[in-house]
Amino acid sequence: MRKIISICICCALVLGCSSVVSERETSDFNDGWRFCLGDVPEASDPSFDDDGWRQLELPHDWAIEGDFSPENPSGVGGGALPGGIGWYRKAFHASAADSCKLWRLEFDGIYMNSEVFVNGVSLGVRPYGYISFGYDISHLLEWDAENVVAVRVDNAEQPNSRWYSGCGIYRNVRLVKTAKVRVAPYGIFVEPGMTYLPKASGDGSELHEGFFFVQTEVLSDDPEVTEVVLRQTVLDAAGKVAGKVEDTYKLADLAGQEQMVRISKPHLWDVDDPYLYTLVTEIAIPEGTILDRVETKTGLRHFFFSPEEGFSLNDKPLKINGVCMHHDLGCLGAAVNKNAIRRQLEILKGMGCNAIRTSHNPPAPELLDLCDEMGFIVQDEAFDMWRKKKTAHDYSRYFNQWHEKDLRDFIIRDRNHPSVMMWSIGNEVLEQWSHADADTLTLAEANLILNFGQSADMLASDDDAKSINSLLTEKLADIVRSLDDSRPVTAGCNEPSPWNHLFHSGALDIIGYNYHNQNIASVPENFPGKPFIITESNSALMTRGYYRMPSDTMFIWPARWDIPFYDESFACSSYENCHVPWGNTHEETLKLVRDNDFVSGQFVWTGFDYIGEPTPYGWPARSSFFGIVDLAGFPKDVYHLYRSEWTDEPVLHLFPHWNWTEGQEIDMWCYYNNADEVELFVNGRSQGVKSKTEDCLHTVWRTVYEPGYVEVVARKDGKQVASQTIRTAGEPAQIKLSAMKYGDGVADDALAFVTVEILDKDGNLCPHADNLVQFEVSSGAEIVGTDNGNPVSMERFKSDKRKAFNGMCLVVLEAAESGRSKLRATSGGLKHASVSIEFER
Ligand code: GAL
Repeated sequence: MRKIISICICCALVLGCSSVVSERETSDFNDGWRFCLGDVPEASDPSFDDDGWRQLELPHDWAIEGDFSPENPSGVGGGALPGGIGWYRKAFHASAADSCKLWRLEFDGIYMNSEVFVNGVSLGVRPYGYISFGYDISHLLEWDAENVVAVRVDNAEQPNSRWYSGCGIYRNVRLVKTAKVRVAPYGIFVEPGMTYLPKASGDGSELHEGFFFVQTEVLSDDPEVTEVVLRQTVLDAAGKVAGKVEDTYKLADLAGQEQMVRISKPHLWDVDDPYLYTLVTEIAIPEGTILDRVETKTGLRHFFFSPEEGFSLNDKPLKINGVCMHHDLGCLGAAVNKNAIRRQLEILKGMGCNAIRTSHNPPAPELLDLCDEMGFIVQDEAFDMWRKKKTAHDYSRYFNQWHEKDLRDFIIRDRNHPSVMMWSIGNEVLEQWSHADADTLTLAEANLILNFGQSADMLASDDDAKSINSLLTEKLADIVRSLDDSRPVTAGCNEPSPWNHLFHSGALDIIGYNYHNQNIASVPENFPGKPFIITESNSALMTRGYYRMPSDTMFIWPARWDIPFYDESFACSSYENCHVPWGNTHEETLKLVRDNDFVSGQFVWTGFDYIGEPTPYGWPARSSFFGIVDLAGFPKDVYHLYRSEWTDEPVLHLFPHWNWTEGQEIDMWCYYNNADEVELFVNGRSQGVKSKTEDCLHTVWRTVYEPGYVEVVARKDGKQVASQTIRTAGEPAQIKLSAMKYGDGVADDALAFVTVEILDKDGNLCPHADNLVQFEVSSGAEIVGTDNGNPVSMERFKSDKRKAFNGMCLVVLEAAESGRSKLRATSGGLKHASVSIEFER
């Protein structure tokens, strides 16, 4: 599927290749690739015969196709999936009619250590697997002939991320053709501004006018063009012109020029009303021919981090109710699909989440586009390590040589997004401490010695000279500010002392703590005049559908992270009673943020479970327990705690299920809002009326189990406003399918996520069901993944069958063509089910 995203409308004018030609043409370069797992150095040669190689379409992640194994070099931290070296090749035609244009290949991300060849010539290597980059290729092309691009991807040396990275060309690739005079890659920088005037009533001020300040970097390889017209047109969301400006510049004088577009009736971007404008930048020659045209989505908003009052957006106080997210998409792996990201964000929005931290690396551009469109604030993060390593083969090896370029490319790619409101230059980098051995220690050793050692001699000292680590902090923050001084710079730090070398540099605009809730009260005193945010919180542990009594006993797992942990359940309790020793419960941080105005908000670790880092367990666990939502996208109970605190929608959520051993003592919990009290009944007998308090954001009843039903009733002003009943489920008898479609049409890689539930004959969810479900899909769609959210499942993600886990599993379909597709699910002894999905173009 090859689609032209924007096409030229002007035709070639002039003379040979000298002046030029037409607008840019950007085409998807994802289809028609061939792939081989293994190192084939000869494959860079254009005459190499790749006929036997697998044909595929990008984005592609070869690791997600593999089997879990303790032998895989990523280890369980990396998801226990394969690594290795892989090659991609694609042949393409270069028409002589386009030989006057400049051709450029753009890669949104290749994990990792890529080397790109065109017609056998290496264009360069790019070690950082999360960065976007591109190469000019015109000089290597043969006109009216077939050309070959070959890409070597090397993810053999692992571990190199502390989570699942994926392997391959896992983000989108584009071919961009431009005239010789063109906007540089990421060459537009647009900053919003606005004025407020006193209200006629004299009561406060009101928004008067909006502005976009635009800088355009123009590149020219055409000596005949010396002067250009630079036109900036801003379109509103309906496509109408909202403002326009046009200036003529000598190319030699263009650098550093800023144009201002006025917007007379400004419509602000907000998390609840994410209104976007489109900036259309055109370069023309004075005679009128347009040479280049670039569209940039942008928005008008202003925000402020106050040391006393926390965060405000457009002058309104707003708590940042955020989550940290890694980049994998569950069973789809790292291969980017905008609709799968859209689903994650919709689920998060549903619990009132309004912010995402891109832990701990530059995200796919699609994530930021969606955050702009859907109304999320973003903390955009660059690195998980600097010079000091966290895993044996990580980016620290490349940091000295690459950090300036990577950081620069990251900022200029992302700085136009209205959703991005903070830059993070690092997460828990070991440079917070000075320790001679820090770069030879394992992460566990480093954590023990540095983080928990808390020894003053590893922290900054009181003399005037800044330590090398403070100077590095300053350097990185300066690079960011030189490219964008409109957003604050922060870092996620797990050393709370003001003598932390990063804090002591004075270069961070916002103090960011990971965990350390007990130190937060001292922040205003320790960091006078500095705003504060919790860059990472909680690390509470939960398995969907698993409950460990008694619910008022806290399981701190693991007791120490340098000692292997074992519990035969290989699960973590979904009562709020399990978290890591460096973390705390969700409720605790919710209250802390609520009760302290100076705390701008928090980013919970994590929104979704992710592949890798199965703390507290080792093999065979292979994905995380931290998510508010499991890996398959099914909310855990705590999701409803957030709904009850972060949204105004009515919430009444009773748990756990009602299938226990007769006589067993069971705690029933309830999250609710919009009510004064809740009452629980077991088989119609009241267990008491309860209410939440300032201190406790849930209610709990200790009950004795007997088969039947349990019901909770919520009342406001004495009147019942909601109720929920859970019945004891019988034996599994039937399958229920519910499909949610994301995206319209094949070209958009539309997906359907189908939830599979195992029910008894009366339609109750069977909370322990683990039946194996077989899927079959008619033509028009294909199965691209299955999952059940169990962090210990050894089943392949790419499969047409999946066991239910605690009653549920998921199958993901991708549209292959327009039309109706039918999914059928069967399982021995159960009544089968089917569902139809209409994929339109
Ligand atoms: C933090 C770290 C995260 C994740 C988390 C697990 O210290 O920043 O990446 O490892 O711990 O609790």
